[in-house]
Amino acid sequence: MFHWPASSLAGFFIVFPANQTLPLLVKSCLMSSNGLSSAAVTLPIYLDNHATTPLDSRVLEAMLPFFTSRFGNAASNSHSFGWEAAAAVEKARRQIAASIGALPQEIVFTSGATESDNLALKGVAEGCREKGDHIITAVTEHKAVLDSCKHLEKIGCRVTYLPVGSDGLIDLDQLKDAFTDRTILVSIMAANNETGVLQPIEEIGRLCRERGVLFHSDAVQALGKVPLDVNRANLDLASLTAHKLYGPKGCGALYVRQNAAARLVPLIDGGGHENGLRSGTLNVPGIVGFGRTCEIAHAEMPEESCRIAGLRNRLRDRLVSGLDQVTINGSMEHRLPGNLNMSFLDVDGETLLTGLNDVALSSGSACSSGKTHASYVLKELGLSDEAAGSAIRFGIGRFNTEAEIDYVSGRIIELVKSLREVSSLK
Ligand SMILES: Cc1ncc(COP(=O)(O)O)c(C=O)c1O
Repeated sequence: MFHWPASSLAGFFIVFPANQTLPLLVKSCLMSSNGLSSAAVTLPIYLDNHATTPLDSRVLEAMLPFFTSRFGNAASNSHSFGWEAAAAVEKARRQIAASIGALPQEIVFTSGATESDNLALKGVAEGCREKGDHIITAVTEHKAVLDSCKHLEKIGCRVTYLPVGSDGLIDLDQLKDAFTDRTILVSIMAANNETGVLQPIEEIGRLCRERGVLFHSDAVQALGKVPLDVNRANLDLASLTAHKLYGPKGCGALYVRQNAAARLVPLIDGGGHENGLRSGTLNVPGIVGFGRTCEIAHAEMPEESCRIAGLRNRLRDRLVSGLDQVTINGSMEHRLPGNLNMSFLDVDGETLLTGLNDVALSSGSACSSGKTHASYVLKELGLSDEAAGSAIRFGIGRFNTEAEIDYVSGRIIELVKSLREVSSLK
């Protein structure tokens, strides 16, 4: 959870525009107490783009009419309101499909990737019960996959959890060894949400296809950030969501290859929407936004990913040259352009984030039941509790600037040095 402590407001002008309920923090021309000028940036700075992304104004523009005059239910086939909504949904389906090399009819809309992951795993487990009961996944998958696997184990499935190396990658030989004649599904994510590590999905897809095993990938973090083609990767199922790609929250999709649909049992029964795979009235404004966001990302990805990787490398170089005892977690080579995950040894990540109250970031810890735990993903890469606890995840996105990167790197270098000084005095 990210909080803005009251002290973070010191030195900023707070304005309450007439049409907004929340105050806006606007550029301060003052030097902050640490001597870093924030004149070129607007605070707070958002660098947590793996958690969610701001809505692109072009996406909002596409969505707005579907909240007001074009409010029809896409399933109403007896009047123009319904036809208009249905046409907008079909356009979005084409836009999303085109961005991943799929057919429009292979896109099944859901409420987000958590639902898509659940549908893929539980739907295949039930749909392929006659064929087998064994699933292969990896220890660093998102909880939506891991917890679905736990559920399936409780009802009699067998799950193999592949380990990863210190680079965060699975070993393809271990995958080959894990297949049995009862294997029905392999679920391996395209890009990790903490380390940004890209798994070799094309090789994994080839191994699955050779064995006639379905291949699912949680492709949430990869969509629109790195090339993703369902045919090149031999994907049968892929989980997607709009809000990691400058689109709205609460709108996702499951890509289902045409000939895999028969092997998938729906989780939700009802009106038979989405070819019976996901009943429920469609979220038309969300779907329209999802389509537009995929269209934009597909057109702009080559230029945008280069620019973002440049910002990420600038941040990395500044931190590495400004501080000692920093380590990069996960492969630098096989990584999302906007991701950097670094441990600042001898510094507690949560304390670092509290001090960095004008920058939105995530630490390598997760809070559950009131207790803070080191990230399971980083621990699976072989990090100690201490190294995982000192990790920070940087998620750089479309709206970040060079000035922001310079401001953040300066703040971190200064803060890490002072926290280390304090701890050495204890
Ligand atoms: C890799 C990955 N999978 C699944 C999800 C869940 O997505 P959603 O928020 O759309 O349910 C997330 C988001 O946290 C994610 O990063």
